[in-house]
Amino acid sequence: MKIVITGAAGFIGSHLSEALLASGHDVTGVDQIGAHPAKFVKEDNLKEAIRHPRFVWMPADLLSIDLDALFADADVVFHLAGIAGVRGSWGSSFKDYLHANVLLTQNVLEACKRAPRLKKLVYASSSSVYGGGGGAYSSEDSPTRPISPYGLTKLAGEQLCHVYHHEFGVPYTALRFFTVYGPRQRPDMGFHRFMKAALFDEPLPLYGNGEQTRDFTYVSDLVQANVAAMTYGVHGTVFNVGGVETATVNDVLRRIETLAGKPLRIERLPEQPGDPFATRADVSLARRELGYAPAVSLEEGMARQWAYIVRLYGSEVKP
Ligand code: NAD
Ligand code: UGA
Repeated sequence: MKIVITGAAGFIGSHLSEALLASGHDVTGVDQIGAHPAKFVKEDNLKEAIRHPRFVWMPADLLSIDLDALFADADVVFHLAGIAGVRGSWGSSFKDYLHANVLLTQNVLEACKRAPRLKKLVYASSSSVYGGGGGAYSSEDSPTRPISPYGLTKLAGEQLCHVYHHEFGVPYTALRFFTVYGPRQRPDMGFHRFMKAALFDEPLPLYGNGEQTRDFTYVSDLVQANVAAMTYGVHGTVFNVGGVETATVNDVLRRIETLAGKPLRIERLPEQPGDPFATRADVSLARRELGYAPAVSLEEGMARQWAYIVRLYGSEVKP
């Protein structure tokens, strides 16, 4: 199939690109990395895909290109581009989140409406649509009450998908990703920051008391759900995509200490506004409908991410 991935140089987009190329698809990847603060990370993300003969790399701002032309031959569009991250979405950043997550999604949907061959749009939604979380399982029909501006924009994107499906039949599936980790994780995310700090013996920024929990999802499990969604025959639905196990941040830090083989220098910082206390995914719907079966344990997944962090920054480690 001919597939377009928006946000292809990102953490998740780069893994998805490689998986789809490996299964024989043609992939066009679009992203803007020119002025990105983590440009070297994004260039590293793309290293594999860009060498592949069936990968077309298109560096561009999706808000200023002709999306009708981009989707003209597309059988499937994965819409992953956006600004991710809960904690940075307050204050004057909100307008950037609105542009990247809401306006861009609406532009993508307008073009999907006209795309002649489109069989599926897969929209990257987020556990942050649920809100604070008291530790109970969230299922797809749990109330959606975001507690961060970011969560609000991801929910708006999901609801725009519904609007365009209802009125114009845009064939979408939305996936609510729960805190994804693994090699290439974004530099602003927890595991990346913790492991980098451990590698360099720098202060490790811990928000709150560390007892917050997350349903950590290994990136190859998440990719598996995305690939299954692309051929899912029903349109206009949403699925949770969580991982094998939940853990507290304190548990994660103990595991990093073991991987690094040295004590961590923890810097205690205040709890951050918009950070849910606990997330926990009920994935029974995805198991049943998509055959989703998360397989990578936290122990295995964290070891793989540690190896990546050591490689990415290894040459900078002071003797
Ligand atoms: P990422 O930042 O690594 O990837 C997103 C990419 O989108 C970036 O490379 C960025 O340059 C690109 N992008 C943004 N605006 C663009 C524009 N106007 N034109 C072209 N490219 C643009 O983030 P990620 O962690 O891979 O997340 C991917 C998607 O999944 C996001 O939509 C995010 O909200 C969602 N999500 C991620 C997680 C997670 O734990 N990582 C969890 C829930 C949802
Ligand atoms: C992640 C992604 O970053 C969001 O894009 C996504 O939408 C969200 O998951 C989701 O599930 O929907 P988050 O859970 O905040 O958000 O992921 P991390 O940045 O890995 O944070 C995990 C935990 O570590 C949080 O409790 C956070 O407070 C903590 N943390 C993070 C720290 O204590 N210090 C840090 O420097 C970073």
